Amino acid sequence: MKPTEIAKNVYSMPVNHFNRKLFDSLIPLPDGTSYNSYLVKGSKYTVLLDTADPEKKEQFFDYLSGEKKIDYVVAHHAEQDHSGLIPAALEKYPLARVLTNAKCKELLMTHLHVKEDRFQVINDGDKFDAGGKTLEFVFTPWVHWPETFSTYLAEDKILFSCDFFGSHLATPELYAVPELVHEPMKRYYAEIMMPFRANIKNNLEKLSGYDIKMICPSHGPMHKDVEFAVNRYKDWALSEPENKALVLYVSMHGSTAQLVNRLVSALQERGVGVEKLNLEDADIGRVAMAMVDAATIVLATPTVLAGPHPKAIYAAYLASLLRPKVKHLAVMYTYGWGGKTVEFLSNVLSNLKADIIGQVAVKGLPTGTDLELVDQLAIQIAEKHQALSVAK
Ligand code: FEO
Repeated sequence: MKPTEIAKNVYSMPVNHFNRKLFDSLIPLPDGTSYNSYLVKGSKYTVLLDTADPEKKEQFFDYLSGEKKIDYVVAHHAEQDHSGLIPAALEKYPLARVLTNAKCKELLMTHLHVKEDRFQVINDGDKFDAGGKTLEFVFTPWVHWPETFSTYLAEDKILFSCDFFGSHLATPELYAVPELVHEPMKRYYAEIMMPFRANIKNNLEKLSGYDIKMICPSHGPMHKDVEFAVNRYKDWALSEPENKALVLYVSMHGSTAQLVNRLVSALQERGVGVEKLNLEDADIGRVAMAMVDAATIVLATPTVLAGPHPKAIYAAYLASLLRPKVKHLAVMYTYGWGGKTVEFLSNVLSNLKADIIGQVAVKGLPTGTDLELVDQLAIQIAEKHQALSVAK
């Protein structure tokens, strides 16, 4: 593969990983992923921005087969899907130095055993003159690790944003088509970026001071429609949640499913948007995505060995890790002879800034009276949602 010139003497080198099924041995990748690196050729120096996952070593170095000299490697992020081939790149180019911040340097030394004398440490706002190509380093911490930063290429108004604005999407297309990239980008945001909404706000504000004509992320296609990418992040991270209830449930013998079906109907009758996901076989990326704009999350579970079903615990734990902007929580559960389901789930969810507005506990198969309690819960949710915009 040959690098593709995306601006004068600026090249894109995406390595697609079409058949990768999981990221971090956890996150499903229905569309695969890609690892994007870039080359900037100034009159003084050739600079490589990031590398690729070591699993794709051959494809990555194929791009560099014609490059006799690389002077610097910018390491925006120490996670191995971008940094993993830095040791091999330094071996191939023995005079190259790694341009990165102090935190990333430390991580690359501990995680990849890069030797200290290979680094040149940069600071926030530093400018590096590659010869007619000025790289300005813009620290964007916690999107999604503490060391992450972006590089702004002043002459071409390109922002190399690393994971920020990325999408797990393997595609031969270099440039994002907004309608096609929207879902992979939202999935990526939900799984990777959502816990860091406050940092996203700060970083978006910081980047608003730059005239950006194109965003080149380290996963997925590049964004010529900068406004689209930035506005999606504003919607997901900063806007109020929507008039949407996310109902996550698991049912063993059908009793919990009855509660869920009644709740969904009662919510819809009252104008609340609903997304219902069965945790029995739900893709956790879809669960994460559904959490992005829901104002209420309802967990519905049977009782298993005196507590919630393990799949309900997993979903609650996922919510506590991803920290969506949900405002209200509710629990519905069925039981045979007792248990501590609400206490258990409340503990798991305690770090969310959301109130538990209701619970419905049903012994065995729901009766008419039980279903009326579900209707009451729907009324409570609908009242809480009155001020919210309609779910998209
Ligand atoms: Fe794509 Fe955080 O690495």
